[in-house]
Amino acid sequence: MRQESAPSQVRPSAPAPREAVPRAWWRDAVIYQVYVRSFADSDGDGVGDLRGVRERLPYLAGLGVDAVWLTPFYASPQADGGYDVADYRAVDPVFGDLTDAADLVAEAHRLGLRVIVDVVPNHTSDRHAWFRAALAGPGAPERELYVFRPGRGASGELPPNDWESVFGGPAWTRTADGAWYLHLFAPEQPDLNWENPVVHEEFASVLRFWLDLGVDGFRVDVAHGMVKAPGLPDVGAGEQARMIGRQVLPFFDQDGVHEIHRSWRRLLESYPGERISVAEAWAPTPERLARYVRGDEAHQAFNFQFLTTGWEAAALREVIDLSLVATTEVGAPTTWVLSNHDVVRHTTRYAEGDAGRGLRRARAAALLMLALPGSAYVYQGEELGLPEVEDLPDEVRQDPAFFRGRAAAEAAGGAGAPVKSGQDGTRDGCRVPLPWSGHEAPYGFGPGGSWLPQPADWARLSVEAQTGDPGSTLELYRTALSLRRELPGLGSGSLRWEEAPEGVLLFSRPGFVCALNTRDTEVVLRLPGRALLASGPLGSSAGDTVLPGETCGWWAV
Ligand code: GLC
Repeated sequence: MRQESAPSQVRPSAPAPREAVPRAWWRDAVIYQVYVRSFADSDGDGVGDLRGVRERLPYLAGLGVDAVWLTPFYASPQADGGYDVADYRAVDPVFGDLTDAADLVAEAHRLGLRVIVDVVPNHTSDRHAWFRAALAGPGAPERELYVFRPGRGASGELPPNDWESVFGGPAWTRTADGAWYLHLFAPEQPDLNWENPVVHEEFASVLRFWLDLGVDGFRVDVAHGMVKAPGLPDVGAGEQARMIGRQVLPFFDQDGVHEIHRSWRRLLESYPGERISVAEAWAPTPERLARYVRGDEAHQAFNFQFLTTGWEAAALREVIDLSLVATTEVGAPTTWVLSNHDVVRHTTRYAEGDAGRGLRRARAAALLMLALPGSAYVYQGEELGLPEVEDLPDEVRQDPAFFRGRAAAEAAGGAGAPVKSGQDGTRDGCRVPLPWSGHEAPYGFGPGGSWLPQPADWARLSVEAQTGDPGSTLELYRTALSLRRELPGLGSGSLRWEEAPEGVLLFSRPGFVCALNTRDTEVVLRLPGRALLASGPLGSSAGDTVLPGETCGWWAV
């Protein structure tokens, strides 16, 4: 029987022992994203939980990452996989209780891993006590905590403006008493009003709650949201979902949002041990993204420009250069990322319809990413080379964007098939529970089933199947991560581009060279030094290196 949670049971845990003058651990850290409901299930209900994560922490320590980021495990009706929080200080029973959270943090610290948790400040759940009170009637003072507005039209029957939800359809829903409230995501996720100081105070208190429990930082959900343009002006023409991350919108990437990040930085710095925040900010350019990581704001911001760049050498080089310049100008590291719980897994994204090619490219991209200066995030399962699961039946899907997107497409007379980019409704495909061991589903995920069905051929991709196989993707990641620790300064500093044939990226770091061949045919390169690791079989020809197509290698020089 699981114990009931009680605050008195929660023991704050001291972070792992740190040097007297702590190095900025986060500047070159490799941080592993745990999507809690799909990582490991301890109690057999088919949904991953905190105890499951704790039991598997030795795997992560052995993999060689520095920290884990846990996606939301707070009390939530799960209308959006927990990104709809009903109580920011409670653990949802499906994931465990506060004692499990404290035990997980303590065990991670014992293993030398840091722990980052999600904070969701742009919106709450519609079941949050504040929003329930706000719905009590037009005069409820809690309406001031959200964005309520009268509608347009003769009797207020039209939404207050033309904003669209990221998940499709209008960003406004009308309440029974006729007022409209804003939700940039699902209707179950009403946006908070960050012009109200009570909202600021509440989130400062929530951050303290988790910092006091021992967490090492926060991944800030929709860190570019929160502040809206005064007067909530219309966007005007255009498909808004496609504009996100491409231009400044009246609801995203507003200048005022930076003041929130500044105040949180001050709060984090009032704690010992270099606690950090990482911004999930979709900004139109590397320069605008770099504004989130100025010295007094967030420590890191995911580099989604890198994530969205296709398999093309010149484009990759350009995004790397622009990112490094922009972040260096503000004194921050770049934070590389290839996959997360919102996008098509890069194994599939890099070569739609050709699994062999996709895996080759994904392995090569991982070595590229881990050779770049800065910090990197690894999304659970990418170290196994998991592909996107593209054939999930509609009835098992849970992504609210799938249903909203389909409804919106149908309303517009379309066939209803969601498009494949960003938060477009196909996000269940990258959230299928991990295969750990065994020959049939749920492949050691837990003693019961799994909340999304796993493909029949995932036994060969399990942790057990790949462990010890030198050709496996898991061993590639393990070796790369251990080399990254051994090679002095690989995570920090800068890089120098070397001359290379078209389609090849070649750069040097102190004592180190990395070459990526994006072409599908081999290239012959004259490389100094000793090969350390490659994502495919290297050859040699008259003393030169033969780098196969879609392959990346590392050399010590
Ligand atoms: C972020 C999360 C995503 C969620 C959305 C709304 O983008 O990564 O999963 O649906 O915010 O909270």
